[in-house]
Amino acid sequence: MPVVKDEQAMAATPPRWDMLIHDVHLATMVDGDTPFGAIEDGALAIQDGRLAFVGRRADLPPGEPEALAVRVHAAGGGWATPGLIDCHTHLVHGGDRSAEFERRLKGESYADIARAGGGIAATVAATRQAGEDVLVDTGVRRLASLCRDGVTTVEVKSGYALELDGELAMLRAARRLADRCPVDVVTTFLGAHALPPDFAGDADDYIAVVCDTMLPEVARLKAADAVDAFCERIAFSAAQVGRVFDAAAAHGLLVKLHADQLSDGGGAALAAAHGALSADHLEYADDAGLAAMARAGTVAVLLPGAFYYLGETRRPPMAAMRAHGVAMAVATDCNPGSSPVVSLRAALNMACVLFALTPEEALAGATRVAAQALGLAGDRGTLEVGKRADIALWDVGRPAELVYYLGGDPCRAVFHRGRLAGTPYGSSLKLQA
Ligand code: NIG
Ligand code: FE
Repeated sequence: MPVVKDEQAMAATPPRWDMLIHDVHLATMVDGDTPFGAIEDGALAIQDGRLAFVGRRADLPPGEPEALAVRVHAAGGGWATPGLIDCHTHLVHGGDRSAEFERRLKGESYADIARAGGGIAATVAATRQAGEDVLVDTGVRRLASLCRDGVTTVEVKSGYALELDGELAMLRAARRLADRCPVDVVTTFLGAHALPPDFAGDADDYIAVVCDTMLPEVARLKAADAVDAFCERIAFSAAQVGRVFDAAAAHGLLVKLHADQLSDGGGAALAAAHGALSADHLEYADDAGLAAMARAGTVAVLLPGAFYYLGETRRPPMAAMRAHGVAMAVATDCNPGSSPVVSLRAALNMACVLFALTPEEALAGATRVAAQALGLAGDRGTLEVGKRADIALWDVGRPAELVYYLGGDPCRAVFHRGRLAGTPYGSSLKLQA
């Protein structure tokens, strides 16, 4: 029976993966029985940019690690997590608003500054002036900071040009960032972010331009992966946002919403009614809206950086979110006004300290649940066989340490699509690319 014999011989031949990482503990972030989905003394194998083995080192096929893979990394202890996912940023923009930060420290409110022509409008002027190349060069600096802290997927919104060509330039600039940093960029069209000065007093007219001119062109060029809007007294009403969402659906684009940040505008329920990927901020969300989000599978994206910088006192309704079983992600909201935060770990720390998330909830919010918020849950966000080999290696003794320190440089190495992307801070670990 030579055929059977051949099969047996093949089965006995150990795999020869592209890469093997061992001498590492795994925070797989798979939702299950163990906190952080932890596997102590684990190993990860990578084949063709995907995870081919995730488990205990003891369960590897027999033989020396060097025989199992072309490239073998002994990680020297520490923990591996999925590459972090920052699922809500505005990191492409012109200028900065540190002068407004100073004004707010003297007592002016975010809404007052916005009404007086500052705020988002100030960044709109700077972004329109910047030009695409400057947007890329300045965006890279912010993104590099996120990447040094373990981020391998980032969402970037437009919304600071508020006219077609400028919005398209922002979206192109966002995608070009992926040529400069080892990261996947997911883009979101946020034409309905604020009323541009040229449309003052004509919000409905501007929304018509967003729906009838801008959004169809964004869709035709496949320039954005989703559509967002800002539903707030200082931005757009629920009815106006509804029109944007209907237009997005007509063009086959999924939606998400800046919802209930400064007041209860019914944003949570509106997002759920449109099957949104996520509703973000949510400090003032009501109970019925959260229940609807849970039913619709709409993720709550918590943005503690904005809460912190604006000195807000009303926390998102955490107890109601947990009671309804709303999935919670955490993101930086990296933007020049309300959240100039360029570390996702810092946002996770704030989510724990300010919103009372557990470290495990926070880390899930920047991995598994963040992937869900981007519609990418099947592809990344956990360490599981078949998922993208986006991995961060950390110099920590326990996963909770990742959110315990504010600052520091615990990230030893990042693998993006199975390739060693960098050992950020001259780590003691010398990995060969
Ligand atoms: O997510 N809420 C609206 N947009 C941003 C703020 C943008 C800005 O101030 O420039 C946010 O907080
Ligand atoms: Fe935002």
